[in-house]
Amino acid sequence: MHLSWGMAENKIEFIYAEEKKTMKQSEAAIRKHANRRSFLKNSLAASAATVGVGMLSGGLTALGADHDGGITEGDAAILRFLAAAEILETDLWTQYNELGGVGAPVSGYQTGLTQLDGDMPQYIADNTDDEMSHELFINAYLKSKGAKPVDLDQFRNLLGSQVTDIPGIASKKRLTNLMELTVDTSWWTRYRSTTQNPDFGDTFPNAVPTLAGGMFTAIPRNNAELEIGSAVTPVDTHVQAIANTAGFHFAFIEQGGTSLYASIAQRVSNVEVLRIVLSIGGTEIMHFQTWHDKAGNAKPLTDGALVFPDLTNDIPQPESLQSNLIMPEPTVFLSKKFPVCSIIRPTATRGVAMGAVKALTADGLFRGQTPDFFEFLRDLAEEADEARREV
Ligand SMILES: [Fe+2]
Ligand SMILES: [Fe+2]
Repeated sequence: MHLSWGMAENKIEFIYAEEKKTMKQSEAAIRKHANRRSFLKNSLAASAATVGVGMLSGGLTALGADHDGGITEGDAAILRFLAAAEILETDLWTQYNELGGVGAPVSGYQTGLTQLDGDMPQYIADNTDDEMSHELFINAYLKSKGAKPVDLDQFRNLLGSQVTDIPGIASKKRLTNLMELTVDTSWWTRYRSTTQNPDFGDTFPNAVPTLAGGMFTAIPRNNAELEIGSAVTPVDTHVQAIANTAGFHFAFIEQGGTSLYASIAQRVSNVEVLRIVLSIGGTEIMHFQTWHDKAGNAKPLTDGALVFPDLTNDIPQPESLQSNLIMPEPTVFLSKKFPVCSIIRPTATRGVAMGAVKALTADGLFRGQTPDFFEFLRDLAEEADEARREV
């Protein structure tokens, strides 16, 4: 199985592992799973009763979203997993936006972000808005089809940054943890390769190896790391390292969304659901392309164990690292008998939802979350991965 977020599977440890569960817990989980699945089926059956069963299996229906057409169980499962992914994206982007977005007060952290691009605070705010719109749209669409929307509020278990210089942040309950990240930066070299593709089993080196080998914060954890009121350059090295970490994490998240949507689209049945998946997926690609460009401007520095190399000026720079090569290089696609092709990668569809959960877990994004949270997310991923295209 390939992981959309590019992390080697053997590095991944789940907080709850199937083999560690007691028999009783497993049975309870299966019952819960079965109950939820039958609820979903019942919801869809009710919808089918009003519009005709043909709509449920009719993959070629292309109704407007305001119509009362049904969607297949598989399409609903795919949309539910995507809704969960979007809720998680919204949660993490909101944290970045509160501390470094255009509406946040001037700080050393925000200034550190502007070293990557003067417009970073605006881009962060816009990416946050986009994720929120994805989440709200997909859930509203599910409801319009008589399918259950996704709500993760019961899993708001984590405290984020303890900055008090911006009121309200320290007490907010979060879904994601941005303070102990292990950021995979192999997307950088993956998109520069002209001969390899993760869908062929290829793996890629990290552009910032130290970032992929420890636990680092991408947001200021306290007032000292925020440096409110400070727009002085050069920014403190440690604060700049936090901003650099954020810059690479932005691209990691959005390259994952880029592959997730393209991969999962291949198992959608309804043309309108396909339109949703392609249209939202396209904006994930736009986000990734933007962040890919900006990450190359991360200021070279050493902050303890964390080393950001100079990806712009070090001469000679190998092509695999050169920071102005932000367009995807043509590479092998589908079969090596074809000419190389410029594509997003990976896009293999099998197991992609669970791969996304595993990669985000390996990223450290869920450090501190509860077993219930992982179980809920894995259930959604399993159901999405079971979905098959019906035509
Ligand atoms: Fe999104
Ligand atoms: Fe995204």
